[in-house]
Amino acid sequence: MLIRPAVEQDATAMSDVLREIIESTGRMRPHDPDFTLAHYIANRDSVRCSVALDPEGVVLGFQSLVRATPGNRYDVPSGWGIIGTHISPRAHRRGVGTALFTATRAAAVTAGLPRVDACIGADNDMGLRYYEAMGFRTYRTGDGLIQKRLVLTPGD
Ligand SMILES: CC(C)(COP(=O)(O)OP(=O)(O)OC[C@H]1O[C@@H](n2cnc3c(N)ncnc32)[C@H](O)[C@@H]1OP(=O)(O)O)[C@@H](O)C(=O)NCCC(=O)NCCS
Repeated sequence: MLIRPAVEQDATAMSDVLREIIESTGRMRPHDPDFTLAHYIANRDSVRCSVALDPEGVVLGFQSLVRATPGNRYDVPSGWGIIGTHISPRAHRRGVGTALFTATRAAAVTAGLPRVDACIGADNDMGLRYYEAMGFRTYRTGDGLIQKRLVLTPGD
């Protein structure tokens, strides 16, 4: 498996991953290639967006990390990271999410982010378990969501 930064040319394959997740989970979300490019790859607040590729170069999934700005959708404190993880159901439970997180965590440390937020649907058991396994812990609940955080800088 290869992990590398996402580039513009990945937008369609990443959009396909989002569509596959929607088909498998029934959880609708924006996913067309233009949205994928703007929201994940070319996001001006992006710290890192990585794709995971199989040996044939097929995109298995991706993980985004953006810096929280004032007024962000989930009320994450400014300056924290906000993470999102999207792995194709074709490739679940094969360590893709873990491999992506190694790159994301390193980028978060390099960027000096003190905490990283993961916002997960309260009914999304695989997402909750994945982030717990990556070291995230619940700090806020409500409106059908569970927010977990990873502490990178001890204190405050
Ligand atoms: C959640 C998700 C990111 C996990 O990615 P993945 O590549 O399958 O995860 P990994 O194989 O690296 O698993 C790492 C660990 O997470 C936990 N985990 C992952 N999926 C799990 C599941 N379905 N049930 C229980 N534990 C799970 C396990 O502890 C696992 O370690 P193990 O396999 O050694 O027991 C992936 O299933 C996904 O993209 N789902 C759809 C979108 C989503 O829910 N995103 C996250 C929340 S917004």
